[in-house]
Amino acid sequence: MKLLTIAAVTAAMLTGIVTANGQAYPSKPITIIVPFAAGGPTDALARVLADRMRQSLGQTIVIENVTGAGGTLGVARAVRSAPDGYTVSIGHLGTHVINGAIYPLTFDLVNDLDPVALIVSNPMMIVSKNAIPSKNLKELIAWIKANDGKVTAGTAGLGSGSHFAGVYFEQLIGVKLQFVPYRGTGPALQDLVAGQIDVIVDQASNSLPQVQGGTIRAYGITANKRLPAAPNIPTVDEAGLPDFHVELWSALWVPKGTPKEIVAKLNAAAVAALADPAVQKRFADVGLEVPPRDKQTPEALAAHQQAEVKKWWPMIKAANIKVN
Ligand code: MLT
Repeated sequence: MKLLTIAAVTAAMLTGIVTANGQAYPSKPITIIVPFAAGGPTDALARVLADRMRQSLGQTIVIENVTGAGGTLGVARAVRSAPDGYTVSIGHLGTHVINGAIYPLTFDLVNDLDPVALIVSNPMMIVSKNAIPSKNLKELIAWIKANDGKVTAGTAGLGSGSHFAGVYFEQLIGVKLQFVPYRGTGPALQDLVAGQIDVIVDQASNSLPQVQGGTIRAYGITANKRLPAAPNIPTVDEAGLPDFHVELWSALWVPKGTPKEIVAKLNAAAVAALADPAVQKRFADVGLEVPPRDKQTPEALAAHQQAEVKKWWPMIKAANIKVN
């Protein structure tokens, strides 16, 4: 056995994982595929997580933004990657549940990826540009109704979290919005701040810093309790639109067939990140909630994803949201 191979095997014995080629895992950088634009909520989440997981894994973690088609292009890239633990898919309710009911995908969102860990939950926040005259959700809805069909709503593309939540919102209030697709809600938010679009039903973590800075206005969050980071923003129930509850949970997956030991190692690194007070503070500051420890296992994520498919697919199909 060559010296290098012996060294690799010894390192692998110390970390407990030897891959098929006899190397320690991870022996090279890991890529997390973010299916939306840099600067948006999924990208920000991936970067905080990667920064901490890198410490546990002892390897660089590269973030690759593979954008387009509501996140389906990035997820497809992950599905097609080698199941060796060097490609991780980060996504959320939109990319890993909703898109399966909208797009004619060439892969199975549930069965072609193996779950690693549920990371955070994030309510949506209804936000508008400052120039809109409304002061609360009831006034905003009245304003949208008065401008039926003309109000522009930024989204991260068909089937993204912001699109799905926007469609749900327009159905509940009985109006049509003009959806404007972007490659992520990072760029959509920039246009909202600049007054180029009117509203976004956005992930709270994305919009909150701008709301706090006074550059956009928030009307309600789609949860039944207020965010500790923004106690002045009412829930939709309080603001007059009960039942508009959307929790945009985010999670990590790997390509189907990734060895169980590698999934366990990635899971342990994610769990360590979620237990880190510095990470918890960064998440809490933007309203992200870390799930309880028993919900951070691969099995719990599998069960959650399947339950969400059962909950949302019939509604999406009934709403007839399709790719034209
Ligand atoms: C993003 O990172 O841009 C978002 O997750 C997009 C979305 O689904 O609304």
